[in-house]
Amino acid sequence: MGSGETGNPHPSPSGILPSTVRAMKLFVDTGQVEEVRKAAEWGILDGVTTNPSLIAKAGRGFKETVLEMSALVPHGTISAEVVGTTVPDILREAREIASWAPNIVVKVPMTPAGVQATRQLSQEGIRVNMTLVFSPAQALLAAKAGATYISVFVGRVDDISSEGMRTIAEVVDMVNTYDFDSEVLVASIRHPMHVVEAIRLGAHIATMPFKVMEQLFQHPLTDIGLERFLDDWHKAGLTIFEPTPVG
Ligand code: E4P
Repeated sequence: MGSGETGNPHPSPSGILPSTVRAMKLFVDTGQVEEVRKAAEWGILDGVTTNPSLIAKAGRGFKETVLEMSALVPHGTISAEVVGTTVPDILREAREIASWAPNIVVKVPMTPAGVQATRQLSQEGIRVNMTLVFSPAQALLAAKAGATYISVFVGRVDDISSEGMRTIAEVVDMVNTYDFDSEVLVASIRHPMHVVEAIRLGAHIATMPFKVMEQLFQHPLTDIGLERFLDDWHKAGLTIFEPTPVG
C-alpha cells in the first residue's frame, strides 16, 4: 500500500484484525447463548467452546443452542461435542453436528476411539477439537490424527495440586518444533492469570468462562484514572459538543 492510501490491506473475515496479525484467539466457554451475545458485542470474540456439562446446565436443546451461537459468531468457530464413545458412534454424531453450520468444529474426546475417528474426520474435511488432553503425549496423538484444536485443560490439573500451565508450555513447544497445523487451545481456565500465562507461552487460543472474560477488562487504576479524568473535566465546565454559531 502506498503512502497516502488508507484502509486495511488485509482485512480478516471478522474485520477485527488484519489476517497477517497472529494474536492469541479468545473463546468463551459456555452453554449460554446470552453470554455469547454479550461477548460478541465487544468485538473481540473469536469463537465458542461448549461441552456436554455446559449444555446440560443451560437447559436448552443442543442443536438450537449451537445454531444460535454459530449465527452470533459467524467469523469464528463453535466447538460442539460428541457423546459417543465408539468409533462408529463418534463418526455418526460428528458428521451430524458438522452438518449444522460451516463454522462448527466437532469436539472429540482423547481416547483411542476418539483419535481413530479424528483421523477419519480430518480426512473428510471435518474439523476436530480434541478435548480432555492433559499431557504432551496425548497432544502428540491429537496432532498426528489431524486435530484442528488441541484442548489442553489447566484448571482441573491445578485443582489436584499440579501445574496445568507446565503442560501448555510443553505442548506449544511440541507443536512448534514439529510444525503441526494444530492450534493449542488452553481450556479449563479459572482466572485472568491463566490467560496471561497462555499469552506468555504463545498458545494459539484461550477459552474461558464469561466471568473470566469480564475480569480481563478490570484494573483498579483504570477505574481511578477514569474517575479523575471525568472529575477534572466536569469541574472545568468543558464540553465536546459546543453550540453551533447561528448565522
Ligand atoms: C473446554 O473446552 C472445556 O469446555 C472447559 O474449558 C472445561 O473447563 P472446566 O474444567 O472449568 O469444566
